[in-house]
Amino acid sequence: MATPHDIADSATSISALTAARDRLIVALDLPDAVLVRQFLPRLEGQCRWLKVGLELFVAAGPAIISELVESGYSVFLDLKLHDIPNTVAGAVKTASTLGASLLTLHAAGGPHMLHAALDAAASMPKAPTLLAVTVLTSMNSQQLHATGIPQPPSQQVELLARMGLAVGMRGFVCSAEESAQLRTICGAETSLVVPGIRPAGVALDDQQRVATPTLALQNGASYLVVGRPIVQAPEPASAAAAILSEMASALQT
Ligand code: C5P
Repeated sequence: MATPHDIADSATSISALTAARDRLIVALDLPDAVLVRQFLPRLEGQCRWLKVGLELFVAAGPAIISELVESGYSVFLDLKLHDIPNTVAGAVKTASTLGASLLTLHAAGGPHMLHAALDAAASMPKAPTLLAVTVLTSMNSQQLHATGIPQPPSQQVELLARMGLAVGMRGFVCSAEESAQLRTICGAETSLVVPGIRPAGVALDDQQRVATPTLALQNGASYLVVGRPIVQAPEPASAAAAILSEMASALQT
């Protein structure tokens, strides 16, 4: 029987698959460390990036980051910090000691907050790359209007990205619907991290601004974040292999 590795390897070249693996982040949205330890072997070595979000971080604490890093994974710590500048700067400093490679904060915290966060990161020897979250991929125009923002997500994303760029941010989280626009504005060196990824035919769940892995890469995404389509799949390694294969094909064209 074909293994997930075979399925992925047969469709694409090894180097394209390696490039795809470097750009796929699995969102470990699980309630505790025990479930994470049970889940990871089910990925069968398909993935090298893991995202720790609020659910897992609140349950397992900073120790889960070092555990994953020591196991050889690159870790994206998705804390979505949003507070006064002094508090966010302090959180960036403490988070910078944990070994994560990427850390999020909300662009909506404003330029002073972003600036304080960048200064804090610059003062630490092994700070993660900071990513400013623009508009959550779960928000559509209606949801945004309800928070008092009249313009559609694409305009708000651009406004927040331009604000972030002006204070020195070089990484953003956006949906695939805005990534081509942001790539033009931000240039090639900026990291664009794109959640809301759904392979064709997969449930959207609570996500609104979604795209397939192929479209997200075509639109300039640097990294794709995928949670439930892999973590909740009956066979996570096969689900990851299918996504990696699609990504590798897109990267080859
Ligand atoms: O399960 P799913 O693939 O929808 O998970 C997406 C992940 O990306 C979640 O962990 C969510 O917190 C995160 N995320 C997002 N939209 C953003 C930023 C992060 O969905 N704008």
